[in-house]
Amino acid sequence: MTTLISYAHYQQRINNFLATKLEGLTINDAQLLEAMRYGLLIGGKRMRPYLAYITGEAVSADLNDIDAVAGALECIHAYSLLHDDLPAMDDDDLRRGKPTCHKAFDEATAILAGDALQTLAFDILANHTFSTNKTPSQLPIQVKLIQQLVHASGYQGMCGGQALDLAATGKKIPLSELEILHSLKTGALLEASVIMPAICSGQITSEYKKILSEYAQLIGLAYQVQDDIIDLTSTEEELGKPVGSDIAANKSTYPALLGLQGAQDKAENLLQQALQALTRLPYNTQSLADFATFIVKRSH
Ligand code: IPE
Ligand code: IPE
Ligand code: MG
Ligand code: MG
Ligand code: MG
Repeated sequence: MTTLISYAHYQQRINNFLATKLEGLTINDAQLLEAMRYGLLIGGKRMRPYLAYITGEAVSADLNDIDAVAGALECIHAYSLLHDDLPAMDDDDLRRGKPTCHKAFDEATAILAGDALQTLAFDILANHTFSTNKTPSQLPIQVKLIQQLVHASGYQGMCGGQALDLAATGKKIPLSELEILHSLKTGALLEASVIMPAICSGQITSEYKKILSEYAQLIGLAYQVQDDIIDLTSTEEELGKPVGSDIAANKSTYPALLGLQGAQDKAENLLQQALQALTRLPYNTQSLADFATFIVKRSH
């Protein structure tokens, strides 16, 4: 397994940031807050925050600004998982080695905790004091970042992808459609994890931003190919969530369409393309390269 530079350090950093955010909330409904904490703070690899921090390092952004970016991304991700596990969607009982939020609490609470985490993401961005306040477009940086996160998480991003995912359940879809589905469902938030730090750097050219996007889209796809592979090859113990649930739900996956070996080849091919994209950037991209490798080699 590839060892990622400063992974534990940044996991700790984002966990502290998010824990402090939740502690700062006024308690109106203790159970709702508890469910938000359950969904946000217990477990999780923190890959999107890590990607945001290492991109921030590469483009020389202020890491205090990246705290807000990483925090907002992880809130959106946590909310998406709370809703993804609900009976109306994937109907899963286990997440991060623990009962899913709606099992530990109840469905209504899991829905509301997801909703509240989603708005918390925008609260974090809107109220953070950024080190730079203006962007080349003259819009305040908060507005630029919020625009980006809306794009990545809503209709044109993760939610749109989740809808395509549900629509594709129980039928075989062509590879081209599967690719669009994943680029929205998973890729959009990973792309935001590099573009939002790029916005924070204030000085990156649109050409380099495009290359970062390309890299993120490739690893986003690779991430999902690997997610589908380990749904087949991993164990529930290792994964902390049920295995074989894609087959059980009759989902279109890369292994289903390409076979296991075909899917593994696909992941490797995406990795090589992502590494190739990084060579066109004038920054130290070693951590980004290692992260791409980590995604494809991970077994859980
Ligand atoms: C799982 O995301 C859902 C997908 C988008 C494939 P992660 O694998 O990042 O889940 P956690 O946050 O580590 O639990
Ligand atoms: C979930 O995808 C992706 C989002 C929540 C956006 P999956 O349904 O494949 O993720 P797991 O396998 O439950 O983690
Ligand atoms: Mg799902
Ligand atoms: Mg799921
Ligand atoms: Mg999955």
